[in-house]
Amino acid sequence: MIRNDMTVPPPLNLIGGQWKAAANGQEIPVISPIDGQPFASIADGGNEDIDAAVMAARAAFDGGEWSRLTALERGRLLMRLSVRILDVAEDLAQLETRDTGKPLAQARADMQVTARYFEFYGAAADKVHGDIIPFLAGYNVEVQREPHGVTGHIIPWNYPAQMFGRSVAPALAMGNAIVLKPAEDGCLTTLRIAALAVEVGFPAGSVNLVTGRGTVAGAALTVHRGVDFLSFTGSPEVGVMIQTAAARNFVGCTLELGGKSPQVVFEDADLDVAMPFLVNAIIQNAGQTCAAGARVLVQASIYDKVAAEIARRFSAIVAGDPRAEGAVLGPVISPRQKDRVEAYIAHADAPVLARGSISPDAAAEGCYVAPVVFGPCNPKARIAQEEVFGPVLCLIPFTDEADAIAIANGTEYGLVASVWTRDGGRQNRVAKKLHCGQVFINGYGAGGGVELPFGGIRKSGHGREKGFAALHEFSHIKTIVNNHGV
Ligand code: NAI
Ligand code: MG
Repeated sequence: MIRNDMTVPPPLNLIGGQWKAAANGQEIPVISPIDGQPFASIADGGNEDIDAAVMAARAAFDGGEWSRLTALERGRLLMRLSVRILDVAEDLAQLETRDTGKPLAQARADMQVTARYFEFYGAAADKVHGDIIPFLAGYNVEVQREPHGVTGHIIPWNYPAQMFGRSVAPALAMGNAIVLKPAEDGCLTTLRIAALAVEVGFPAGSVNLVTGRGTVAGAALTVHRGVDFLSFTGSPEVGVMIQTAAARNFVGCTLELGGKSPQVVFEDADLDVAMPFLVNAIIQNAGQTCAAGARVLVQASIYDKVAAEIARRFSAIVAGDPRAEGAVLGPVISPRQKDRVEAYIAHADAPVLARGSISPDAAAEGCYVAPVVFGPCNPKARIAQEEVFGPVLCLIPFTDEADAIAIANGTEYGLVASVWTRDGGRQNRVAKKLHCGQVFINGYGAGGGVELPFGGIRKSGHGREKGFAALHEFSHIKTIVNNHGV
């Protein structure tokens, strides 16, 4: 296999503190979407590897060294990992860009956020306190938070390093032992970060990582009887399978399944401030962001003006090599994703307002897609309803506040939204009526926001990640009732 880069990790799984080849001896080639060239390989893990990883996690949780650490000691390990990630952040960012095709500036920002997850949850590990409930005379009632046990984590390819931090850090902070199955389309930095976890002293079995195909390694993890809780980020189709498997094993799960998030622009909005957000919220990471601002809803009175300015900005965007200075738009993750996005564009049931371009210097075998903005779109058009997961924006005019809310809430999803208005009363009215898990007023925060509870409703999933909310998801409450007498 090709090993032409010192930062590329070997094709091994981390199981019980040991690095091991897949039990079947197979590897999956890793192809860069920048130029279509293979540059590494990962282990093609399956049932046997997942079983060994879950057993190692069980041993760590059920009496192993990991289970005997105090919350303070766990927290210190997480914080040490945070520091190590920052030490090698540039290296990790270069690897992330090569693996996923995201612009280097975004990969660099991702590494800061990844480190921040371990810092935030490391510092929080010993600050999850219980409650005392006043009860009958002669009783003392305590409420404690306990870890679930072994948690299974399936993460996507759009932000491999960040997703590692977001999903795994709070689980470890609470004392769970984890098994991570990252995405076959982008996971090299997760292997590097797992190696750093070993280096800073996480006990054997506390952190396990098995790479492989979703339908094989992922499916094996979701049905395993030794897993006490599942955390998934990815497509709604797979989310249904995860929830079904969790139900069969009587365990809980959190699902984060993306969206079609609206950015609602009223006629009194400060357009100079709004405009870069409106464009960046869909261009960031080539639109492959769960919280991408994929729909811009514009009040009819300013529609022409806003549409003209967004069209001007889109026309100037050039998709190209993400390693180039100042790159804002790289390729999408894979030929499959490029085909998917291009099919949406080709069959869109709305007029093209403007199109960007692909740099003539971009490799022909790369997965580049020229960004497109459609408008005016019927809010019920397929292109305005379904998650494209590419650099594709829909402009939708609305008449008044009630119309804006109806359109914003008029998809099956509900993850993030933004409201652009200077009217304080309207800011609050609209924010309260939007059906979603996070609302930004005069801003848009795709990515980052480690401290801020995040998650969706309906087809966007359920459960909350980030902030203290994630510590609650990765633990359960135990009520201890002590009849000590009067
Ligand atoms: P996917 O849902 O298949 O992949 C996400 C993760 O699930 C990967 O780690 C994959 O290996 C795993 N997986 C796949 N099938 C599985 C199974 N049967 N059992 C257990 N794990 C399984 O997403 P995909 O196919 O890569 O992307 C398709 C679309 O899904 C995208 O175009 C986008 O619309 C959406 N998506 C949303 C994401 C988000 O951040 N909300 C992330 C990735 C994809
Ligand atoms: Mg997939």
